[in-house]
Amino acid sequence: MSFPQIRMRRLRSSATMRRMVRETSLSVNDLVYPLFIRAGEGLKKPIASMTECFHFSPDLIADEAAEITSLGIPAVLLFGLPHKKDEHGSEAWSEEGPVQQAIRQIKKRTPDLLVITDVCLCEYTSTGHCGVIKDDARSQRGMGFQPLNRRQDADAAGASSPKVDNDATLELLAKMALSHAQAGADIVAPSDMMDGRVRAIRDVLERNGFKDVVILSYAAKFASAFYGPFRDAAESAPAFGDRKSYQMDSANPREAIREIELDIEEGADMVMVKPALPYLDVIRRARERFDCPLAAYNVSGEYMMLNAAADAGLIDRDAAMMEVLTSIKRAGADIILTYFAKKAARLLGQM
Ligand code: PBG
Repeated sequence: MSFPQIRMRRLRSSATMRRMVRETSLSVNDLVYPLFIRAGEGLKKPIASMTECFHFSPDLIADEAAEITSLGIPAVLLFGLPHKKDEHGSEAWSEEGPVQQAIRQIKKRTPDLLVITDVCLCEYTSTGHCGVIKDDARSQRGMGFQPLNRRQDADAAGASSPKVDNDATLELLAKMALSHAQAGADIVAPSDMMDGRVRAIRDVLERNGFKDVVILSYAAKFASAFYGPFRDAAESAPAFGDRKSYQMDSANPREAIREIELDIEEGADMVMVKPALPYLDVIRRARERFDCPLAAYNVSGEYMMLNAAADAGLIDRDAAMMEVLTSIKRAGADIILTYFAKKAARLLGQM
């Protein structure tokens, strides 16, 4: 049977009908809101590269957490901007680091809001890399610390990929994750792409009695041009070279499956694909293969691309936002990390 017995438009005839037959529904429960915590006091400062995002000092984060909680958003993801950087990123595991302080403030005020922490050294190292650099690499290639133009994409053609020392970095990441757990984090989220880091973190958490701390692994994280606005916001652009020797090549979905499989074996409770929009196929493949909670990160470049188009009057911001978030859910993500979380939660609340 076909037309006119079958008319597909019957099922689209009213808003109520469309609502009833809708196959994918986005919920506030799916959303995680990322926050940038800067060392200092009395600070709430707009971030130039990211619409409606702020740098907060730890003493001002509790109000923001209360607002996020009142919107029904279940979790925040914390990034830290330390007072000082060094080659090993040692502020990353300081008890008085911005993230550690912020966790305590949030937990005091809104204990039910889940706190996820980003575990990666790039905001803490003077090199801007996600781990420690092998000494020989810099001298061999004659790479100094001349900062790239911030706005310039660090992955620009011709940039070299320095050697980040995998095994030496594991210990530092484990210390960082442990300090987050000690401060009260519910979930630690390693985003560095070192091999073996999930096992290293799981071991240190177990040994120190943090059996219930969840690991959300940025399992399939691609070397992406879409991190640009974030690197300005987090002051984490590499001082030389790019991240291609540790983050994944954008052309490799099968390799993404291997990465995810290994992280689950090493003890990850949840896994992530990042970025989201250019990798919806990877999200779909991961959904079909694995039954653990699957997250996707709608990253800064995806966020600002949409905002730039809306600012230029080219697209409807809210409608485009909902379409994008629905596409990530439809691809198979259970959890969406997005700078749109508050805006989307407000809209969902009105529906
Ligand atoms: C840290 C990290 C990055 C992002 C999240 N964690 C930057 C990077 O890998 O360069 C990007 C998030 C975004 O763009 O919104 N490694």
